[in-house]
Amino acid sequence: MIDLRYGEMPVAFEPAVQRIKKEANNINKYPDENYTQLIHTFAQKEQIKKENILITNGSMSSFNMILSALYQKNASMLIPSPTFFGFEQSAKHLGYKIQTLLLDQKFWLTINAIKEKILPQTTLIVLANPNNPTWNMLVNNDQIQELLEEMNAYIIIDESYFAISQESCVPLIKQYDNLIVLRGFSKWYGLAWLRIGAILANPLLIQRLANDASSLNKFPVNSIAVHAAQEVLQQQKEMDQYIATFSALKTDFEKQLWQIPEVQILATKTTFSLIYTPLCNSELCKKLETHGVLIKKTSIYPNLEKNMSVISVPSRNDMSHVIKAFVTVLWQ
Ligand SMILES: Cc1ncc(COP(=O)(O)O)c(C=O)c1O
Repeated sequence: MIDLRYGEMPVAFEPAVQRIKKEANNINKYPDENYTQLIHTFAQKEQIKKENILITNGSMSSFNMILSALYQKNASMLIPSPTFFGFEQSAKHLGYKIQTLLLDQKFWLTINAIKEKILPQTTLIVLANPNNPTWNMLVNNDQIQELLEEMNAYIIIDESYFAISQESCVPLIKQYDNLIVLRGFSKWYGLAWLRIGAILANPLLIQRLANDASSLNKFPVNSIAVHAAQEVLQQQKEMDQYIATFSALKTDFEKQLWQIPEVQILATKTTFSLIYTPLCNSELCKKLETHGVLIKKTSIYPNLEKNMSVISVPSRNDMSHVIKAFVTVLWQ
């Protein structure tokens, strides 16, 4: 089966693989619980203080830690729709009420629409930027700043796809205590297997989250993941090349998809392609599976059009098989 459900990079980042091999002889040791080197590198790159950074087991884990810490009676979370299904799932599980704000037909969101939805009990606004599954930027930094100025609620900006969008609101954390940024290493950095990410926020909140985490587990993030992340951040030239190679692969894949008259492709700023086909997503999933290709079931996204599907970019080796499968099922 060729699995195109999760927006993974089709190949591993070789310097990270080499680093893991090099460090493997230390698996008998406990990790450095302060992640000293990684945090130092991260802080330098983002031009923030090390006190602004907490290393976690990936963006979902970051999100759950924050929601647990900020929970209060009648807490409510405002999210756009459609967006990453994990936000609503976790928040509901933790007892938050959910307020949703529909994206318009072109997947845009206006600041006024957000402001109109904010209630006194709104504890958090969560925006994936770029958004999942529409893969566009929802807000720019001026708009984020306008919201931060006018409200007391926290704003979580999930920058899991930062490496391609290259648009970040991290500089604003110096100015606003109610801004929290999530950075993941799963997607463009190609470390999904290792489960690592970071929370960037004001030092008091970071300290509080760090205390919560270490009171449950002194060594939550494993050293293999930390070394790989270190390599990803340090080897900028190789990483630029890795991303450029991926971007070329994505362009090539989308060019081949465009040649199938039944497929339309919407521009994305992430590791996914967003396509529109005459077959609805559930039919497309079923039929592609019989040809050895798995794609995501978009029924997890309320308010996403039924004929839209999201797919990861296949590896160079798998690409012709995937294109053939699409041609076969759409021409059947
Ligand atoms: C917007 C968004 N946030 C978080 C995640 C999960 O990231 P991680 O692997 O870092 O937990 C995803 C995965 O698809 C995502 O699209």
